Amino acid sequence: MDQPPLHVACIMDGNGRWAARRGLPRTAGHTEGEENLARVVRAAVRRNIGWLTVFGFSTENWRRPRPEVRHILGLHERLFGRVAELNELNVRVQWIGRPFDSREARTPRYVQRAIRKAVADTANNTGMVLTVAFDYGGRSELVAAVEAARHDDGAITADTIGQHLYLPDLPPVDVLVRTSGERRVSNFLLWQSAGAAIYFTETPWPDFDSDELDAALALAH
Ligand code: FPP
Repeated sequence: MDQPPLHVACIMDGNGRWAARRGLPRTAGHTEGEENLARVVRAAVRRNIGWLTVFGFSTENWRRPRPEVRHILGLHERLFGRVAELNELNVRVQWIGRPFDSREARTPRYVQRAIRKAVADTANNTGMVLTVAFDYGGRSELVAAVEAARHDDGAITADTIGQHLYLPDLPPVDVLVRTSGERRVSNFLLWQSAGAAIYFTETPWPDFDSDELDAALALAH
């Protein structure tokens, strides 16, 4: 029997170490990480993956040195600018993260614009859904969801919390991938990953390839 399309989520760790091993600045590792994400998206659409969700920038990442933060923000602008490529692949882009108008949010306007444009310009695609987590934290998402559920009538249940997540239609994660040797979940998709298999690999994100993706998918059933 055909398997339903899977939801794969990736914590793309190890860009800095990938660069350091080559004597390059950390920013070069992030640049390669963004390029590898484009390769992984191309590999994912050829597999039974309906949703690919990636951790691009966490609520904690603002604490990194400013030049590094600026560089990673620029890479998001580049990623969300890949609209022609994504349309060719029939990929629909979504964003998950703290609402731009929330008290703690700090997303600069140019990133907001890039996100809005990519979401709008790929909205009619019917293939894989690529969700990019930017200024995302699982705890912040859950606090907001519980707070919203509290204002509904009736008891707070898993369903009512689920309905108030940032993206209520994002399905449960089947496989959570973390690259580069760390074995932590790091506040990513805490609610959605409740039943996920976890694929840890020593490979740093810039080297994560289609063979690794297949190894991760093998955990899914
Ligand atoms: C971890 O590498 C990576 C991040 C901080 C976030 C992921 C960012 C990218 C893959 C670059 C661009 C991606 C998008 C979505 C535009 P690290 O710096 O923690 O590496 P280290 O642990 O080796 O220092």
